[in-house]
Amino acid sequence: MNFKDQLASIAPAFSYNHGHLEAGGVNLSEVIEAAKGPVYVYALDSVLENFLGFKEAFSGQPTRICYAMKANDCVAILKLLSDVGSGVDVVSGGELALAMSAGIPADKIVFSGVGKSDSELAQAVNAGVMQINVETAYELGQLAKIANSMGKEAPIALRVNPDVEAGTLDQISTGRATDKFGIAYQDAARLYMEAEKTPGLAPKGIAMHIGSQIGDTDFLAAACAKLRSLWESLATSGVKLERFDVGGGLGIRYKNEDPPLVQAYADTIKKAVSGLNAEVVLEPGRRIVGPAGVLLSTVISVKEAAGRRFVILDAAMNDLIRPALYKAWHEIVPLTDPGKVQWTPADVVGPVCESTDKFADQRPLPPLLPGDRVAFLAAGAYGAVMGSEYNSRPRAAEAVVRGGNWSFTRNPRSYNDIIREQHAPSWL
Ligand SMILES: Cc1ncc(COP(=O)(O)O)c(C=O)c1O
Repeated sequence: MNFKDQLASIAPAFSYNHGHLEAGGVNLSEVIEAAKGPVYVYALDSVLENFLGFKEAFSGQPTRICYAMKANDCVAILKLLSDVGSGVDVVSGGELALAMSAGIPADKIVFSGVGKSDSELAQAVNAGVMQINVETAYELGQLAKIANSMGKEAPIALRVNPDVEAGTLDQISTGRATDKFGIAYQDAARLYMEAEKTPGLAPKGIAMHIGSQIGDTDFLAAACAKLRSLWESLATSGVKLERFDVGGGLGIRYKNEDPPLVQAYADTIKKAVSGLNAEVVLEPGRRIVGPAGVLLSTVISVKEAAGRRFVILDAAMNDLIRPALYKAWHEIVPLTDPGKVQWTPADVVGPVCESTDKFADQRPLPPLLPGDRVAFLAAGAYGAVMGSEYNSRPRAAEAVVRGGNWSFTRNPRSYNDIIREQHAPSWL
């Protein structure tokens, strides 16, 4: 497939116009020039379209879509999605605070997370979130104490570990019994019965999340079937639940994967809950924002060594860690259409002092010179949010584009920003 067809299949919101990579009517060279360093760019129309795809596919089935902001916490995206009725799934007190500051109503927020501190539980109860997805028996006890001490009742779901495969990378599988996530399937019924009788707890739903970048709906169907049978046996024991939270996980195309259509996903879930009188809760992250984002970077230098071409970029593993962390693949395209030139293999690396700071191994690329610019595709999910300032490299900036406009949503950071945040003690 030629690179423009590949671009269209992975990141349809991005295309070349008069030789320049564009999105939302904005020439992306303009954005990286202003950023003076690596910058993430999100095409808001694409985010919206992806969200509305879920909404449409689930029509006819009572459903709440709670965008998993761990994938991308850009406040412009939160506002955009909130304006069309999305809730959010948060996994920390920090995300809860950020979501609420972006105007997401508490009663549209699901609080997930494998280990919530007492203060995070209190924060969630105090805010009045829609649902707290409890992951351990201990957390359930703490939550009851905290809610009681505040004179409140905490709406809960138990995140059940259904002990299924997800058919995805080991590092992002979360629904096997040996994974750290969720309440063991065989313990869930007993804990629901206890919760039902415990003041301060109001069981509202059942929840799961079996992994991310799932490429086959059969895995989800298997997990839903297990949760359904638990739901039904709880109902006969007098625990009547309202919400069936299937988590997130739907995959996207990074290279040549063929992830399920959102409609096929919706049909799987609808079938799994048919006749239950359940409201479905979805927590999609990657599928909404992944294809809508790119990371832009500039070539610092190029060298030949041991018969290989090395292209050294100004972006590094601290900006986009997925390749170093999971050997994840991101397509790389030039910001300017190179025309009819030969593409030859190159190792694409960052300047960080780690051998794993490598984005691509022997990847066909056009000739690239210092100062040339490239875009990493499908970088809208688990990109900027996983960024760090390792090597005292300022975090990448973030920008959004739409209708010919663009703005930074996270300003380029300076060395002074980094210096200001540390201080040596006066007694040293
Ligand atoms: C509890 C929970 N919900 C939702 C998600 C979002 O998953 P994805 O981005 O794959 O849709 C995650 C991410 O792993 C998660 O841990």
